[in-house]
Amino acid sequence: MKVRGITQKQVRCPRCNTVFTCSGDPGEIVNVTCPCCGEHGKVTFERSFDTTTKVIEIQKLTKTFGKFTAVDSLDLTIYKGEIYGLLGPNGSGKTTIIKMLTGLLQPTSIMNDVGYMPQDTAIYIDNTVHENLFFFGSIYGISKQHLEKREREMLEFVDLFKWRESLVSTLSGGMKHRVSLACALIHEPKLVFLDEPTVGVDPELRATFWEYFESMVKKGITVIITTHYMDEANRCSRVGLLRQGKLIADGRPSDLKNNTRTTSMEDTFLALAGRKKP
Ligand SMILES: Nc1ncnc2c1ncn2[C@@H]1O[C@H](COP(=O)(O)OP(=O)(O)OP(=O)(O)O)[C@@H](O)[C@H]1O
Ligand SMILES: [Mg+2]
Repeated sequence: MKVRGITQKQVRCPRCNTVFTCSGDPGEIVNVTCPCCGEHGKVTFERSFDTTTKVIEIQKLTKTFGKFTAVDSLDLTIYKGEIYGLLGPNGSGKTTIIKMLTGLLQPTSIMNDVGYMPQDTAIYIDNTVHENLFFFGSIYGISKQHLEKREREMLEFVDLFKWRESLVSTLSGGMKHRVSLACALIHEPKLVFLDEPTVGVDPELRATFWEYFESMVKKGITVIITTHYMDEANRCSRVGLLRQGKLIADGRPSDLKNNTRTTSMEDTFLALAGRKKP
């Protein structure tokens, strides 16, 4: 059962001015009906985060490959407890940014605090699911006893407990992706980079993944995620839109929608990219 009503909001009916309360989950868009005049509308519940604690602050981050600029003078601040979504077309620089951030962070922070799920699955396909989880858990220094508990939790989360002893090479693409996510989270990192974690994952499990990401940020964990799914963009606390290595907009999904006078994230991004809906 889904527990609803985590956040309550007072809304004023634009037709009859009646003020009433509605409830929803952070990141959710709720259909509401005015109890007085029956006017219908939509209310967006923002995801809250700690704007007093910066987890990442970068200025003028640039990456060139020969003469080609893949990331162009990027300024970005990410706060504790955010789910920050990096969005943009193929080749716009999302993976390059994540790789640079994980590379930059590891020498300067405790590596155990960082989790990284690469876009290209980086697990050992000639080993079993269990061996992979134990390998990643042990390089992060988790004790054997705690690792057994964490392995079970992670395998239940990605719904792969039955495949614990299977060779990764025998699993489907989506299942390999799920093993990769479990390996990235095994050590309960405080800062997590997820590069398209839900690609190839079926819709039911995708919903479970998001519930889990939301439970992580409630514990103060910060998540940086890339995605091409606009429903996922809507669930982020803030999103940044990249185009040819440049950040062309960033902010709360609802603010970006309001600024562009659009109602869906898809239209928002088409508007920001200066394109019309096909
Ligand atoms: N090692 C490399 N050498 C040369 N060019 C590279 C290298 N890595 C990335 N690029 C280029 O940098 C640009 C950004 O690539 P990147 O992988 O960051 O894109 P992306 O936004 O993650 O795309 P996608 O949505 O397809 O994952 C692309 O034009 C890519 O060809
Ligand atoms: Mg990428």
